[in-house]
Amino acid sequence: MAQIGTDVALAKSFLEEGKLVGIPTETVYGLAGNALDPEAVALIFETKNRPNFDPLILHTSSLERVGDFVAAFPEKLKQLAETFWPGPLTLLLPKKPIVPDLVTSGLDRVAVRVPKHPLTLALLDALDFPLAAPSANPFGYISPTWPSHVEVQLGEKIPYILDGGACAVGLESTIVGMEDDELVVYRLGGLEVAEIEKSVGSVRIRDHSSSNPAAPGQLESHYAPRKPFLLGDLKRMIAENLEDKTEFAVLSFSDFFPEVRSEDQIALSPAGDLHEAAKNLFSAMRKLDESPASVILAELTPDTGLGKAINDRLRRAATK
Ligand code: TXA
Ligand code: MG
Repeated sequence: MAQIGTDVALAKSFLEEGKLVGIPTETVYGLAGNALDPEAVALIFETKNRPNFDPLILHTSSLERVGDFVAAFPEKLKQLAETFWPGPLTLLLPKKPIVPDLVTSGLDRVAVRVPKHPLTLALLDALDFPLAAPSANPFGYISPTWPSHVEVQLGEKIPYILDGGACAVGLESTIVGMEDDELVVYRLGGLEVAEIEKSVGSVRIRDHSSSNPAAPGQLESHYAPRKPFLLGDLKRMIAENLEDKTEFAVLSFSDFFPEVRSEDQIALSPAGDLHEAAKNLFSAMRKLDESPASVILAELTPDTGLGKAINDRLRRAATK
C-alpha cells in the first residue's frame, strides 16, 4: 500500500529509482514518473490501464526548463506561458528527440505544463528530469482531486502519494496548441477560454465529437462514473424516478430538492459559484458513484466561464 505524506525528498528518491508517485497539482492529482525514462513511462500506461495511443503531459518547474524538451516555442504560446504558468494550462509544442516517443504516442508535439502547487514545484525543482503525469485514475474513470482518491484506486500499485490536500481548481488543465497561425483549444479546462483570449486574441475550440480524434484525449466517454449518469432537467427526472421508486442520487449545480433525502443529493455550489462547483465536481461524482443509488441524475451548469469546462466533463460522464 502506498505511503501518504509530504516528504518531497522521499518522493524524489522513488522517482529516481524509476518508480511512480502520486503528485498534487492545482487541477487534479497526477500519476508521475520520469518522463525521460521509457520504462517509467511504460509503467504509467500499465498502472493506469491506459492505451498507448493516448499521450502524456510533461511537467516541469519553470518556463526556462521547457527549452530542454521543445524544439520551438511560437510567440503566442510563449506569451500564454509567461502569463499563466504556473497554472492550469498545457501547451502543445514541437518536441525534441530527448522526449521518448512513448510520452507523445509518436506525435511530433509534446504537451507541457508548469503546475501550480508548492510541493510539486519543489519536487520538480529538485529533480533533474521532468515528470510525465496523467491524471491518477484508472483510464476513463473520474480524475482524483484528493489524495484518498489516488490511494483507493492506485494505492496498491505505487509506493508513495505526495499529500497536497484538495486540488484548488478541480478540473484538468486547458490544452492549447497552434495549427498554422491559429490558436486551438483541444481540451477545455481549469483556465477559462476568455482569459486566454484576453491575453492573445481569439482562439478556435476544437470540437471533440469526431470518432477519430486527431488529438487524443478527446475521447468522448471519459471522466465517467460506473453507474448510469443521466443529464437533464432535474425537477422532471426526480419526479419520474420517485414515481418508479428507482434508487437515485442527485447532482445539482446549486439547488436543493426537498423531495429528495439530503444524503442522496449534492449541490456543487449552493451559492452558485462556478469555481466552487469546479472544485467539488469530481469528488461529488465519486461520492455519488459509491452511494447505494443505482442511477445518478445530474444537470448542466450555466454555460459561461468555467461552466463550459464543467459541462464538458458532465457530458462525457453521461456518454456511454
Ligand atoms: O491538469 C492536468 O492536465 C492533469 C494534471 C495531472 O497535470 N493531467 C492530465 O493528464 O489531465 P491526462 O493524461 O489525464 O490528460 C492529458 C490529455 C490527454 O487527453 C491527452 O490525449 C492529451 O492531454 N495530450 C497529451 N499529449 C498530447 C499531445 N502530444 N498531443 C495531443 N494531445 C495530447
Ligand atoms: Mg485523465
